[in-house]
Amino acid sequence: MVKILATGGAGFIGSHVVLELLNSGYEVVVFDNLSNSSRASIERVARLTNGTPEFVEGDIRDAAALDALFKAHDITAVIHLAGLKAVGESVAHPEQYYDVNVAGSTTLFNAMLRHGVKHGVFSSSATVYGEAEVMPMPETTPTGPVNPYGKTKLMIEQILTDITSIGPGWRSMILRYFNPVGAHKSGQIGEDPLGFPDNLFPFIAQVATGRRAVLNIFGDDYPTPDGTAIRDYIHVMDLARGHVLAIDYLLSDKAVDNETPVVNLGTGKGSSVKEVHAAWEAACGFDIPAQIAPRRAGDVTIYCADAAKAKEMLGWEAEFDLAKMCEDHWRWQKGNPEGYR
Ligand SMILES: NC(=O)c1ccc[n+]([C@@H]2O[C@H](COP(=O)([O-])OP(=O)(O)OC[C@H]3O[C@@H](n4cnc5c(N)ncnc54)[C@H](O)[C@@H]3O)[C@@H](O)[C@H]2O)c1
Repeated sequence: MVKILATGGAGFIGSHVVLELLNSGYEVVVFDNLSNSSRASIERVARLTNGTPEFVEGDIRDAAALDALFKAHDITAVIHLAGLKAVGESVAHPEQYYDVNVAGSTTLFNAMLRHGVKHGVFSSSATVYGEAEVMPMPETTPTGPVNPYGKTKLMIEQILTDITSIGPGWRSMILRYFNPVGAHKSGQIGEDPLGFPDNLFPFIAQVATGRRAVLNIFGDDYPTPDGTAIRDYIHVMDLARGHVLAIDYLLSDKAVDNETPVVNLGTGKGSSVKEVHAAWEAACGFDIPAQIAPRRAGDVTIYCADAAKAKEMLGWEAEFDLAKMCEDHWRWQKGNPEGYR
């Protein structure tokens, strides 16, 4: 059996990735400091699958903990999801983002070098892109992140690419996610944001359960058909399947040593805020209060993935539509209004 290390595997995306890996016959070790997640997610993943993920609590900045982990487990590949991810927080505390994301990733890659683990998949983000002239955006879109979070993601991409280019037998892949939403169809695992939710889906979900009074639609004067901003939402189970295919690819003879392909994971189809709001009301079967608010600084009009490369390279295509994303997200939120707590 091939054993995969998932850093950050207890988190929102990580828990779904771990579930898909186990269902695809991989063994999984999760390494997570639980700073933004709960052990309960891993216990629930174990109940939903035949396999049992092993869990090691630890920090990616702790070289000794990583050495102990790589000594104890025969790891073939690493999916590196651990990190901080809130754009606003990264503007307020850039030092934490450079420390956890950049220094943490470098510590992890050094440990992989020390222990001869040569395959890495990195969770990157569409926030690394700068202003796009072509929409949907292919991977060749110039990068130009505008906040510390996006800058850390781009730096980690560059570090991993450089190490892979010289490491004997190294093969890596960078996955740039668009807007992951939804939850596993069981409603047992899902996104559990601590504090104020920054993103549209978790915010609407909390309005739907009554935890928040009203959804603010930031700007209805964008040059889009209904005036609200358009994003490419992707079901987290589609995203998780993309990771399994990325690992399959790196372990196959299709992958090339010392190369680090960059692959967008998105549906290629954008939805406006008003469309998302309407889809949520349809999924819930009741009205969700919403009001128009001023535009937020830094928000762009439209952001959509060109996902042709994922199809060509990995045979991956998003399967689930907006209605399914809302339906699954709502099932999780309704059954777990306080998340895992
Ligand atoms: N959710 C999104 O919208 C999105 C979009 C693009 C990319 N990403 C990236 O995907 C990855 C996973 O995101 P998510 O939405 O599941 O977030 P999440 O916060 O739910 O998961 C991240 C996990 O990393 C863990 N972690 C944080 N710092 C750590 C450290 N120093 N050592 C060990 N573990 C640590 C957290 O406890 C958490 O379990 C992140 O790298 C994020 O930047 C997320």
